[in-house]
Amino acid sequence: MKTRITERLEIENPILCAGMGFVAVPELIAAVSNAGGLGLLATAVLTPDEVRESVREIRKRTDKPFGANVTLQFETAEDNARVLLEERVPVINVSLGFSPWIVEQTHAYGGKILSTVTNLRHAHSAQSKGADGLIVTGHEAGGHGGDATSLVVIPLIAEGVDIPVIAAGGFGDGRGLAAAIVLGAEGISMGTRLALSKESPMHGRVKDLALGMSELDTVYTDSIDGQGTRFLKTERVLAMDQSMSVFEALRSIPKVKRALRLTWLEVLAAGLRAGPDIRKALGQAQIAGDTYEGLNSGDYELGIVPGGQIVGAINEELSCEQIISETVSDAERILRSRADDTLEDAMERRNAVEPRAASR
Ligand SMILES: Cc1cc2nc3c(=O)[nH]c(=O)nc-3n(C[C@H](O)[C@H](O)[C@H](O)COP(=O)(O)O)c2cc1C
Repeated sequence: MKTRITERLEIENPILCAGMGFVAVPELIAAVSNAGGLGLLATAVLTPDEVRESVREIRKRTDKPFGANVTLQFETAEDNARVLLEERVPVINVSLGFSPWIVEQTHAYGGKILSTVTNLRHAHSAQSKGADGLIVTGHEAGGHGGDATSLVVIPLIAEGVDIPVIAAGGFGDGRGLAAAIVLGAEGISMGTRLALSKESPMHGRVKDLALGMSELDTVYTDSIDGQGTRFLKTERVLAMDQSMSVFEALRSIPKVKRALRLTWLEVLAAGLRAGPDIRKALGQAQIAGDTYEGLNSGDYELGIVPGGQIVGAINEELSCEQIISETVSDAERILRSRADDTLEDAMERRNAVEPRAASR
């Protein structure tokens, strides 16, 4: 399937793997890129040295294009971005902010910038500052998402900008890709679906929990770091949603220290640097620490796991190759059959996609 996104990013299929902390690691990224999509390495929870190692590891596993996510609100974001630029990573995805110097230096070696946005104002701003494409993320998304739903925000932004849009938040199969294209997007980014793939490092216990969940089994809360974030619905998340306190956040510090491999001195220095923003920094640290605990040990009673509403439509652990090839072929079939239909036929056949496409 060809779109401006496949052309601009020099990939075969318009499908990205979202830069998910602790999940979008070299093995998953390379599997997605080898399947003709584009994997985005998650760097938010890595040190600059680990970023370099990860980029080199991806290059050992694939010769296809790949990218990396820089979550700008994290402490190490700028240092990590410098490493990505030195390594000339083909695609840089900036989220939770925008940095003109990253755009300038990425363009200098011919790389492309994708900016993650959740509303039209930020989309205009990213376009005017040089983004080559937008990942427009709706309310359904796992992790940090926007207030507006994908159905509303994707067509609004696709119509309001000239650069291509990649739809994110609630996309996990061929129907989703076909719908995204009808809404004006030129590709999709999958988080939750690929986090539940065979190549994902997510703990088996968490995968089993997620594969049994319904579309109602997520919680969207801003009570942890002050920004709306969607998690799989577990006892722990429900308790945090109701009573997230500074005390709770402080209790997470040892987990953060383990997750980010910090010394106590570095923890203290980060706390001092945060100054008056300490409450927010503690919340972010808590998300990092508890997500690590949840994903790594599989102990979701102690940790937390970001996840989107599409979890309700995913009931099988498949390989990235299978997910991507079936998504593209199902979407092509749906779009072709609609194009050939008369309006009456199309309305009559509107639910008649093959069961395989509908069940995932
Ligand atoms: C387990 C997990 C971890 C995530 N970590 C990050 C992250 O570190 N930085 C970021 O910008 N987005 C993160 N996200 C959000 C994704 O980038 C993406 O917006 C979202 O997964 C798309 O929605 P979907 O889950 O419905 O596919 C995460 C999502 C999940 C499911």
